[in-house]
Amino acid sequence: MHRIPLPPGFLWGAATSAHQTEGANENSDWWALENMPGSFCEEPSGQAVDSFHRWGEDMDLAADVGLRDYRFSIEWARIEPEPGVFSGEALEHYRHMIEGALHRGLRPLVTLHHFTCPAWFTGWADPAAPDLFARYVAQVAGILEGVEHVGTINEPNVVAAFPRLLAQGGLAEGLPEPEEALAQGLASAHRQARHVLRAALPEVRVGWSVSVQDYQPDLPAVAAAAAYLYPRQTRFLQESRDDDWVGVQAYTRIRLVLDGDVVRPAAPGSSAQRTQTGWEYYPAALGGAVREAARVVGAVPVIVTENGVATGDDGQRIAYTHGALTALAAALDDGIDVRGYFHWSLLDNYEWGSWGPTFGLVSVDRGTFVRSPKPSLAWLGRVGTSGLIPSLEPSQR
Ligand code: FCB
Repeated sequence: MHRIPLPPGFLWGAATSAHQTEGANENSDWWALENMPGSFCEEPSGQAVDSFHRWGEDMDLAADVGLRDYRFSIEWARIEPEPGVFSGEALEHYRHMIEGALHRGLRPLVTLHHFTCPAWFTGWADPAAPDLFARYVAQVAGILEGVEHVGTINEPNVVAAFPRLLAQGGLAEGLPEPEEALAQGLASAHRQARHVLRAALPEVRVGWSVSVQDYQPDLPAVAAAAAYLYPRQTRFLQESRDDDWVGVQAYTRIRLVLDGDVVRPAAPGSSAQRTQTGWEYYPAALGGAVREAARVVGAVPVIVTENGVATGDDGQRIAYTHGALTALAAALDDGIDVRGYFHWSLLDNYEWGSWGPTFGLVSVDRGTFVRSPKPSLAWLGRVGTSGLIPSLEPSQR
């Protein structure tokens, strides 16, 4: 048994995103990508897990085990299906979700952009992009009463690296360098959105969530590692120095080596255990990630907005989360200002092109949409309510 020193008000919950769970996100760019001939996606999202209709059931599952917080996203493509045309029905839908969460005792942390855009949007490098995003955010601000934490953009560093990530075939060997024009567009969209939100809702706490993996340079690579990391994560974390919080999303470690005078990620060793996404199984990554984020952002508090593991073995999920939370407890003990933890994900869901990787605390039958909680869901709830991380059974180690 290990104590996790959760400060009062600590956010404790699970996360989802709209496109990965709602289903039939027909006006989005991802829907178009999934369904075009020769798509890089192995499978389309289709009806996903029908959370557009079953969000109440999802929230009940979280609240019933004592989770106090729920991170979900609002779908821009539903709110603004045509440029400048806003759907009152969609806004009302998300207002109901916010009220539904509050009613269940779940504090919503709402993300305004989680990877998907309306199909008409011409991309973050378009000089008009920040204004277009701010116009959408101004509409959404009208339904956010009662929401304490709003995240503007999910993993801008992944979004800006996305074209190159596709070409590389995934994250296992580290994030490719983000494209400058995309990075700048996303940063300025974030600043404008923050301005709109603060003007409309003086109490709201605004941040964004950066993909921060635990980069571990070997000794010769240490000096050059900072320059390698700057475009990939440091600059995005620095952007949060004027925010109310910064979201950290950590899953794995990436070792860096010096190759001549160039830093490059080393593939996990042949004995390394890999998860369903090919990422190295490395639970302690969360500790390194929150420490690095705190180092960069200074006084701005950290919220872990995603952490989890793709596995078909729920015992392994518990073991992974045990390791991650133990590393988080050590960081809290060392005085790192972490204010929340959200597990990715509440539900098994559409993992950007494939239904293969299962990150959920709850499984979903994709024919009937029946939800079945896994033991890890109640386990996570108990850690939050007791402040204790139970020792693993020998079979779970
Ligand atoms: C993050 C995404 C999230 C999910 C997890 C596994 O990069 O934000 O939607 O796909 O990875």
